[in-house]
This record gives sequence, structure tokens and C-alpha cells, in this order.
Amino acid sequence: MLFLNFKNGISMEIKKVNIEEKLSLFREHWSPKIVGELNGQQVKLVKAKGEFDWHKHDNEDELFYVLKGSFRMELEHKTIPVQEGELIIIPKGTLHRPVADEEVHIMLFEPVATLNTGDNTDSELTSENPEWI
Ligand code: NI
Repeated sequence: MLFLNFKNGISMEIKKVNIEEKLSLFREHWSPKIVGELNGQQVKLVKAKGEFDWHKHDNEDELFYVLKGSFRMELEHKTIPVQEGELIIIPKGTLHRPVADEEVHIMLFEPVATLNTGDNTDSELTSENPEWI
């Protein structure tokens, strides 16, 4: 039996997402891939290693959930280590920089329009149009 939902008048089959399978489809770092969308928010997967660029998001809160490995979230006045199985939410307007000594796999949850490098327009790590996988 097909379970359909209707989005923008288009019928879509409801499919589950296997996270491990999706993670096996890409290797590049700091390049988020979209695996789901709901209520104006997207669920993204990203692999990361090294230092990201300092940035903030003026209009979006961002959620980082560690699937594998660990990283540290650097903030202006403190650094918060985030381990496998933990999540951290960065409120809008907060300057932040994720850093991973070893490769980490993270699930992101954020509004559709969110740019990974936020207000940092000089960054070479900006992912303008993240792809669906
Ligand atoms: Ni951010």
C-alpha cells in the first residue's frame, strides 16, 4: 500500500530515511545535505573536520545533534564540548564556530533559508544551495 501525502498539490510517497545509508552517499566536509523537510524547517546531515568559520544567524536558531564522534562549539566567552548522542541549540544572533579535531557526523535542524555560514559573507565554506540526498 502506498501512503501518500499532498504537498503543493503534488502527491508524494511517504518514505523513511536511513541515516547510515544517507551518510554513506557523501564524504566532503562542511557541506550539509538535506534529508527531510517539515514545517518550514529542514533536516540536514553534515560531516565535519577542522575549524569552521565564525558566524551568526540573525534570524534562525540552529540545532546540532551529534550522530557520531564529537566536536566543540566555540562561543564568544566559552567553549562547549558536544559528544555523540548530545545536541546543542545555538540561538539566533549568537556568534559561534564549530570545531572538530576528528571527523564528526552531525544532524542539523534549521529553517529552510538558513545559510551555513550565516552572516559571514567572506567564507569559502558557504554552501549556497545544499542538495537533497
Ligand atoms: Ni551556524
